[in-house]
Amino acid sequence: MKKRVFGGVLCGAALLVAASFSADRALAAEVNLYSGRQPFLMDPLLDAFTKETGIKVNMVYLKKGMLERLKSEGANSPADMILTSDIGNLHNHVAAGLMQPTGSSVLAANIPANLRHPDGLWYGLTTRARVLFVSKSRVKPGEVTSYEDLAAPHMKGRVCTRSGKHVYNISLLASVIAAKGEAAAEKWAAGVKANLARKPQGNDRGQVKAVFQGECDVALGNTYYMGKMVTNEKEPEQKDWAASVNLVFPNQNDRGTHINISGAGVTKSAKNKGNAIKLIEFLSGDAAQKIYAEDNFEYPVKAGAKVHPIVASWGTFKADDVHLADVAERRKVASRIMDKVKYND
Ligand SMILES: [Fe+2]
Repeated sequence: MKKRVFGGVLCGAALLVAASFSADRALAAEVNLYSGRQPFLMDPLLDAFTKETGIKVNMVYLKKGMLERLKSEGANSPADMILTSDIGNLHNHVAAGLMQPTGSSVLAANIPANLRHPDGLWYGLTTRARVLFVSKSRVKPGEVTSYEDLAAPHMKGRVCTRSGKHVYNISLLASVIAAKGEAAAEKWAAGVKANLARKPQGNDRGQVKAVFQGECDVALGNTYYMGKMVTNEKEPEQKDWAASVNLVFPNQNDRGTHINISGAGVTKSAKNKGNAIKLIEFLSGDAAQKIYAEDNFEYPVKAGAKVHPIVASWGTFKADDVHLADVAERRKVASRIMDKVKYND
């Protein structure tokens, strides 16, 4: 009996210690971030956040393997939140049960509804459009104006893309499924594959290089790469690649251009949930949206936030306003279609 009481006291003391330890941790005011986004972009944003709030950010930059790491760490993961590109990557973390909802009214106000998860499991912080880079010398104005044109007979042997299984192209195909149904999307994917000038390879910038070199006339790529190419002092040849193409926003007469996001969410394992929400709120606010726009040629999500002058020079465009959660749900089918049409073979 005595022993049990003693044990009980010990247990109480242990609880007390545990409670003060977690209070200490909370007082330390920090947030642990796993970021798939590069330090050059995130450092100025995180410094501004710490300056404003006093909350320290411990960022682990994970170019690859974030999902696997979070899965293996499970409930013991030190990560409070993640930051990554593409709805596909965000969705994969949700599907693995790694994220938790937030009910932030700030985020609901700053971010358009189609660019955030209905239950707050992920939030878009910037957008990028998947556009057509068309040869200035070999493509006449108006010759290619839609994703559908990539599958049309007049584009036979003239199209370049990266792997059909890359997350950017899977999301694009998923958006076609959302707009036109599975059968039409499969026909489109098969049509683009039949028009390819070469086997899918390389990255988005590599497709523009191929247009520059005359291997193909039209390529698919994300908008910010144009900004990165025209300002590239380290590899100035990229300026020549960029100068050889026009940037065309597809589907301006119907559903609009497919856009994707970079975004963030709070992990299920979060020990600093409140601070994680504060950081995501900060990243969706005016100051951070300005830094994003200036440093990476992306589009801010917050209404009224300014784009970079280079981005502005491409003109305004109509974006496909499908909910990205609907796109995410169709990614599995999109991936199956890419296999079925043997896109990469
Ligand atoms: Fe990218």
